[in-house]
Amino acid sequence: MKPVIAIDGPAGSGKGTIAKKLASHFNFAHLDTGMLYRVIAYLDVEADKIKELSAAKILETAREIPLSALKSDAVSLKASKIAKSPEIREIMTQLQRDFAASPGDMCDGSVLDGRDIGTVVIPDAVCKIFITASPEIRAARRFRALKRDNSQITYDEVLESLIARDKQDQSRGIAPLTLNDSYVVLDTSEETVKESFLQAIKIVKNSLKFTER
Ligand code: DC
Repeated sequence: MKPVIAIDGPAGSGKGTIAKKLASHFNFAHLDTGMLYRVIAYLDVEADKIKELSAAKILETAREIPLSALKSDAVSLKASKIAKSPEIREIMTQLQRDFAASPGDMCDGSVLDGRDIGTVVIPDAVCKIFITASPEIRAARRFRALKRDNSQITYDEVLESLIARDKQDQSRGIAPLTLNDSYVVLDTSEETVKESFLQAIKIVKNSLKFTER
């Protein structure tokens, strides 16, 4: 199997941005697994129907939905809620493993970002990074992004819903967001995207070197 980079962390930590940049830097395929949960939540797809889909098919469907709708607070909370279902998680886990097993001939590996990539989906990933930041900083980032989409939401409402989602993602019975010592932690609270990205490159290079030895 081609190498997999697992990136996990809470909402608004910057993990999606870093994952995307790493994928392009290392010529790896990128899968934003949160987006899969968002599309399923937005379209209210039942478990039976998800079984007939692939990650690529779900992402293709996502392109037909306005990004602002998929990223809205209501869909974020709903995605986090449906992500508690063991039946849905099992099917989604398989879709993600299939993606990592076949990232395409043109790609040298894959980068998956989410909540349970390094713990459940691909526990033997060559590199695992846990990207985090304080709740206030994460809320401020999300607030700025929602404002760009002309949302009327206030900063306090964003912070409150982010804390509620953290709690839901960390306390669910199956595949909660958890940090263990197989991860390298990257705290982006005080860093620019460029600084975090440069650190992430170092972490990945180190892991790849380690597995080649
Ligand atoms: O990464 P995100 O904020 O776009 O994810 C939206 C929700 O989907 C998140 O609150 C929980 C769920 N999710 C999950 O349970 N497992 C993943 N691997 C990715 C996302």
